Amino acid sequence: MKSTDFIVARDDLQQCKVIETELPDAAALPDDALLVRIERFAFTANNITYAVLGVALKYWQLFPAPAGFGNIPVWGFGEVIGTRHPDIAVGERLFGYFPMATHLVIEAADVSKRGLRDAAAHRQGVAPVYNAYARISGDPAFAGRQGDYQALLRPLFMLSFLVDDYLAENAFFGARSVLLSSASSKTAFGLAHLLHTLRKDIKVIGLTSASNLEFVKSLGCYDEVVTYDRVSSLPADSPVAYVDMAGNSALRETLHRHFGEQMKYSGRLGLTHRRSQPDEPALPGAKPAWFFAPDQIRKRAREWGPGGIDVRFGAAWTGFAPMLDRWLAVTEGRGLAAVQRVYLDTLNGGIPPKQGHILSLAE
Ligand SMILES: NC(=O)c1ccc[n+]([C@@H]2O[C@H](COP(=O)([O-])OP(=O)(O)OC[C@H]3O[C@@H](n4cnc5c(N)ncnc54)[C@H](OP(=O)(O)O)[C@@H]3O)[C@@H](O)[C@H]2O)c1
Repeated sequence: MKSTDFIVARDDLQQCKVIETELPDAAALPDDALLVRIERFAFTANNITYAVLGVALKYWQLFPAPAGFGNIPVWGFGEVIGTRHPDIAVGERLFGYFPMATHLVIEAADVSKRGLRDAAAHRQGVAPVYNAYARISGDPAFAGRQGDYQALLRPLFMLSFLVDDYLAENAFFGARSVLLSSASSKTAFGLAHLLHTLRKDIKVIGLTSASNLEFVKSLGCYDEVVTYDRVSSLPADSPVAYVDMAGNSALRETLHRHFGEQMKYSGRLGLTHRRSQPDEPALPGAKPAWFFAPDQIRKRAREWGPGGIDVRFGAAWTGFAPMLDRWLAVTEGRGLAAVQRVYLDTLNGGIPPKQGHILSLAE
């Protein structure tokens, strides 16, 4: 049995290719192992960031590839087609972190009614969320279009949810407005939606490229939208917080110099522009710092108790998901050519923000 894997050169992400890897037949699986057919997965700029940070944050170690190459993790769905675990049946559907491939062998552990964990040795040493699979057979929230939304947005919206919570908990560090870069990104508009609906006294300002201006305006969750070349026209006389999805050093410097001491918070979350300098100068205002989601999760898990995050996140998702019928056009692609095209277009900034890509390597 073979899996088709889509891999990229770690030091030159423009290079990509397909390889075939040998898999054990279902009957030859080790104890507790599952053979999973990867049905479909979402692909967004977030996956490119996984590749950019593949070494630093150990993403490359999750799904091994030949030397010099990496398999980019994606969020999606799989169907169990072979099982040596007594509590997992053939035909079960799983939602979680998969390689860009047609198949994956999972060493099932900590199996509960709701989920399981891949205990493979090479997958340890990363945040537990990356090894957890939800058992979703028969769950309508993970079927059809709702399922596509989960794959495309659920992991991103968790960050939106945590940042909204963190800023609110800290009284927005005294800011009256929140600036979001890459305002057209799913992570940014998820956060803008939460701020817009929950934090009525905070002004939500989206920063975006000229080509994405109309899309961002059409969302209706930003009070104001400004293109990158016009950020210096924003009034600098009241306190602001900056939530940075773009990871663009020049933009950060322009904003900090423009707002000076009125820049009360400067959180780094993403790298969509891939224009980040390793040595940034000291800047006026709050010191830029990475927002580390697992820290906020740990803190809230302690304070809110078992299930506390899930209940609150579920309520936030329930308010957000209905917006997606209007905000997103799910676009499906099957086969190597489609996967390669979406990968390269996402890498090179060529995907219109309204498109949400759901892919499968199977023809
Ligand atoms: N720290 C965390 O835990 C965490 C969690 C979730 C997401 N994130 C990060 O948030 C960012 C957004 O992810 P997403 O999946 O939400 O993105 P997305 O929806 O795919 O965002 C697409 C937008 O990003 C910008 N962009 C994408 N590729 C570009 C390129 N090559 N050149 C210039 N601009 C480009 C454009 O926005 P503009 O024109 O508006 O700039 C584009 O419309 C990612 O960097 C992701 O890793 C971080």
